[in-house]
This record gives sequence, C-alpha cells and structure tokens, in this order.
Amino acid sequence: MNEQIALSVQNVYKVFGKRPAEAVKRLKAGKTREEVSALGTAAVIDASFDVRAGEIFVVMGLSGSGKSTLIRTLNGLQPQTAGSVVVGGTDISTISDGELRKVRQQKISMVFQHFALMPHRTVADNAAYALEVQGVAKAERLARAEKVLKLVGLEGWGDKFPAELSGGMQQRVGLARALCAETDILLMDEAFSALDPLIRREMQEQLVALQADLGKTIVFITHDLNEAMFLGDRIAVMRDGRIVQIGTPDDILTHPANDYVAQFVQDVDRTRVLTAGSVMEPARAVVNLSGGPRNALRTMRDLQTSAAFVVDRRRTFFGTVRDRDVMHLVESRAPDLAAAVRNGNGPVRAETPLSELFGLAVESPIPLPVVDDEGRLVGVIPRVTLLAALGNVPSSTTDIPIVESAPAPIPEQEVTRTLNKTSMDVTTSAEGGTR
Ligand SMILES: Nc1ncnc2c1ncn2[C@@H]1O[C@H](COP(=O)(O)OP(=O)(O)O)[C@@H](O)[C@H]1O
Ligand SMILES: [Mg+2]
Repeated sequence: MNEQIALSVQNVYKVFGKRPAEAVKRLKAGKTREEVSALGTAAVIDASFDVRAGEIFVVMGLSGSGKSTLIRTLNGLQPQTAGSVVVGGTDISTISDGELRKVRQQKISMVFQHFALMPHRTVADNAAYALEVQGVAKAERLARAEKVLKLVGLEGWGDKFPAELSGGMQQRVGLARALCAETDILLMDEAFSALDPLIRREMQEQLVALQADLGKTIVFITHDLNEAMFLGDRIAVMRDGRIVQIGTPDDILTHPANDYVAQFVQDVDRTRVLTAGSVMEPARAVVNLSGGPRNALRTMRDLQTSAAFVVDRRRTFFGTVRDRDVMHLVESRAPDLAAAVRNGNGPVRAETPLSELFGLAVESPIPLPVVDDEGRLVGVIPRVTLLAALGNVPSSTTDIPIVESAPAPIPEQEVTRTLNKTSMDVTTSAEGGTR
C-alpha cells in the first residue's frame, strides 16, 4: 500500500471573530462550539483527513456546517487558525504569499457554485483566463482552451459569448477554466448545486468520466446526499464544524457512525449508490467450457441446479447453460459445450449501479452474472439479493436455491442414467477438472 497523498489536513481549526486563537485553545481543552461563541464563530473544528491522489473526496453537510470554510483553507484562500494543510508535500501555512499564489496556479484550481464569467470575453478567453494571468501566449492559450472545452462537452463554442450559453453550459465553462490550468487538484464548492436536476445529473456523470480520464484529485463539496454518494470515492460528513464520519458511500450507508449520519442517509437512493459488486455473491454453479457437456451436466446434478455459468480457463464469462440443453448434447454425444451456451441476461460489470439491474433481473430467472474489467466472472446476483439490498436487510441466500424460480432441475437419477448410458463411448479424461 503505497498510496500517494495529494492533500493532507491535520487538526485544522478555523474560527472567525475577535479572538480566534483563544477560541481554539478552549476548543482543544474540550469546550463546545457554543461555549466559545463569545470569542468567535468556530466554522471548522479539528478537521483531519488525507485525500489520495486520483480520488474524488466529497465533503457533505447541511448549510452552515463549515464546508466552504474548510475547502477555502485547502488553497489558502482563508488561512486556518490552527493545524496544517499540506498540498503535494508543501505545508501551505508556512509559505509566502508569492509561493501560495504559485500553488494556486500550478497545483490547485477551484470551481465555485456561482461562477462569474466575464461577459465581454469569448467562452475560450474565459476558459483560458488562468493562462492569461500566467502570461501564456495567446495561440497556446486558445489551443488549450479548445482542448478543455471539448472535454466538458463545449466543442465549437469557444467563439461564443457567455450570454449565448445556458446556465448549465456556463457552469461547464467554469469547469473548463479549472481544467485549463492543468493542476492536479480540483476544488469544487457546490459546483453543480445551482443546476436543474437533469443537467446536474449529466454534469455528475461527466465529472466521473473526466476524472477517470484525467486522474485528477477532486475535493467536491455538496449538501446533497445523493450527489455525494454518486460522486464520492470517500465522503466526509460535517456537522456544526466537525467531521463526524469519513468513509466510502457503502460504509456510510451501512455503518453510519451516529444517529445524525443515520438520519442523513435515511432517504438516499440506495440503488444509485450500491453496485453490483457490493451485493454480489460467489457463483457456485460454474463450469468450464473446455470441460465438455458431460462434465457440465455432472456439476449441475451435484449442485442440484438447472443452470450453470460457463467460463473459460481464465474464468472469462461465456454464457449460461440449462441442464435440459446440456442433457441433449450428452444424449447426442456432442463433444462441444458451446452448442448449449446461451447469452441471455448480462453479464453486468461489477461497478454497475443496482438501479440499472432491475430490468435485467426481472427478465431473468437465473442470477445475473457479474464480471470484472477483464470480463472474468467474479460473482452472481440472485433476484432475492437485489431485493434484500434495497431493503437493507441481510440476505441469507444459503437457504435459497441458487437458481430461483428457474425450472426445477432434472431429477438426479435421470441425469445419472443418461451419463451412464452414454459413458461407454466417451473418453473419461474429459470429465476431470470442473471449474
Ligand atoms: N467570513 C466569515 N465571517 C464570519 N463567519 C463566517 C464567515 N464565513 C463563514 N462563516 C460562518 O461559519 C459557519 C460555516 O459557514 P460555511 O463554511 O459557509 O458553511 P457551509 O459552506 O457548510 O454552508 C457559518 O456559521 C457561517 O456563518
Ligand atoms: Mg458553502
């Protein structure tokens, strides 16, 4: 585990008001936010976390919980009262203003909720504004602007003026501007909160795609739980200036640290958060394509199942087979299992949200196969598991046949009889090595 830390926040406090240092001293001694209120407003209290390079780290909390204050300490816009903020190895509280400006130009960009475009400049000039400040030549500025405008879905809009763009498009320009600086870290404070829901969803999806392409480190602030759950690799939940929990969306949904978080997450749309990979179960009925029909039939008989998942030697998913079809192959002494393989439901990728699985699951009598990036079978999702995940009740599918509501398996004796009847003319070597 040698993960790179892009941003490290240790015991950060930010108090606004008359006597911030004294307020911090008392907070450290155990006083509450209310008890120090005469000295100032404690907006951030003892925040500590590391953001890994390439991660989307979400800070979520109700309005007034201290999110904006916290994110502004990360680029020195609002220096903390106490604690340290380390950006790419540099403790920004110890450097000069000039050096801090460089950090902002070269390491960290910020996107705000209400992003003010300059009305008399073209979209491209707006996007490339940071480069202009840095003194980059015009030709290069425009080339880079063109590139980032394409990334945010505004290809060809560079010559237009802001007034010609919709609100959603203007927010994209804000994102383009932050990307244009080519910093490794992006800070986004409620960057999508002013957009209407459909455009917002689109922007969320685009941000995830961009992140995957560019590998940026993103600190994203939102008061919207569904947005936090959709975007965050990890989420920090803030309340009254304090971080009350840091965890993956799954962690926070399934193990809320306290009642506050539990209430917060109560009405989250679980189907968008939980993925196929987080609810899948081990696949039991797995047969090897090269093992042949007899082998597959024996496996299904032994597991008392009417269907099985077919993989190759590298466990690449091939399809499913039904016992009746395989039995016909065995009876007709066909050597190749591929003749019985069906490509019905799935496979689905492990990162697919549950919301996208319902259609498939409803149509499919057998569990949905789940594959990894290389197409290897990593698990299955029986329908009951899908339903259990939604209700958040533990599923104990050990008691449930692996192929639920699928046709009943062919009786064991009948399979055995067929295998025996046909065994004389088949070499037994083909029967070894199931799975
Ligand atoms: N510049 C400031 N001066 C005084 N108080 C501030 C200032 N900025 C924020 N606050 C206070 O700090 C608290 C946290 O605010 P903020 O960080 O904006 O929360 P959020 O972004 O979660 O809505 C609030 O009580 C707010 O009134
Ligand atoms: Mg805010």
